[in-house]
Amino acid sequence: MGKEINYELIAELIEEKLIRNHEKYIDKYPHISNICTEGEKTDYTAEDNSIWTSSFFPGEMFLAYEMTGNDIFLSDLTSYLKSFETRLDNRVGISHDLGFLYTLSCVAPYKLLGDKKAKAIALKAADILFERYNSKGKFIQAWGEMNQSDSYVKMIADTMLNLPLLYWTGKEEYIKAAENHAMTCGKYIVRDDYSSYHTFLMDPVSGDAIEGRTHQGYRDDSTWARGQAWIVYGFALSYGYTHKPIFLDIAEKSAEYFIERLPNDYVPYWDLTFNDTVPDIKDTSAAAILASGLLELAGYVDAKEKKSNYIEVSKRILTSLYDKYFVNDMDSPVLLRDGMYHRDNGSTGTIWGDYFFFEALVRLTCRFKRFW
Ligand code: GLY
Repeated sequence: MGKEINYELIAELIEEKLIRNHEKYIDKYPHISNICTEGEKTDYTAEDNSIWTSSFFPGEMFLAYEMTGNDIFLSDLTSYLKSFETRLDNRVGISHDLGFLYTLSCVAPYKLLGDKKAKAIALKAADILFERYNSKGKFIQAWGEMNQSDSYVKMIADTMLNLPLLYWTGKEEYIKAAENHAMTCGKYIVRDDYSSYHTFLMDPVSGDAIEGRTHQGYRDDSTWARGQAWIVYGFALSYGYTHKPIFLDIAEKSAEYFIERLPNDYVPYWDLTFNDTVPDIKDTSAAAILASGLLELAGYVDAKEKKSNYIEVSKRILTSLYDKYFVNDMDSPVLLRDGMYHRDNGSTGTIWGDYFFFEALVRLTCRFKRFW
């Protein structure tokens, strides 16, 4: 590893970027950036609150508040809540991603401030997420209309990060649905060697699992780097809520599979098919999710050596992300370059990669109470 970075100092740089940029993103939010070449100006446009990533900027503001206690990071809270409530009332962009959306926009301010309105909106979002649970197949349907019997639907790796919204409600039925989804995901999406499919085709009527497919990865039988990161972090969180040893086992073995395949600079290529000998574009967002997920996982592992290895790898990832990929222009809201959404978008900044990078730094610098 290069010289270990000063996590607190970098978190302060991020806070400065948030202060300079937050007014641009009040009811429209960042998604992916335009240009991401070193030395070029890079920026996030403000997108309607209709996609899966709308909550990550508010989430960054809440992380900054958690770290500093500075009210400036709550300036847009009322506007965020109004925007996310309207989205839910109008059922805009409803999918399994309600977990990402309402954990960061509403559960976070509820956890930080006891905000009752935020709690009510998050509970309503959880009700709608629960409507996506297929009780026959014991999985949450990722996309598309429910109750359509004429085509297969998909269960996907990413949903593991949406389960905390269900666990958080404390409602028995929702907790059971989340736990069952994790079991089904562990059975089909996670392969025997602890690599992962991105998605699995499911029969919505019988609930039968049909076959593994990809959506954003290189091939059906390859391992999409971000999917593997969702698996590591998501199973650690499911273990945190349920204490089921099988979830911890999956989180650890999937983490080890990923760590063994990290390139020299600890930032993965977008699919684990690629490596330093056969390179392609990187995905800094997968690295950031893994870094924060490993810190979550380290909290559950008793064996000292394993625990310190997870923390060490996380720190190596964060150091590399800052040294090689951080956007130093303080007027740019983008934190990390070289993320990847879909291969066709090329190399861009990603608001979710930024969120998880900041989240991991906050974990290392204050008594962090996670939003998930
Ligand atoms: N959850 C969508 C993605 O990771 O691209």
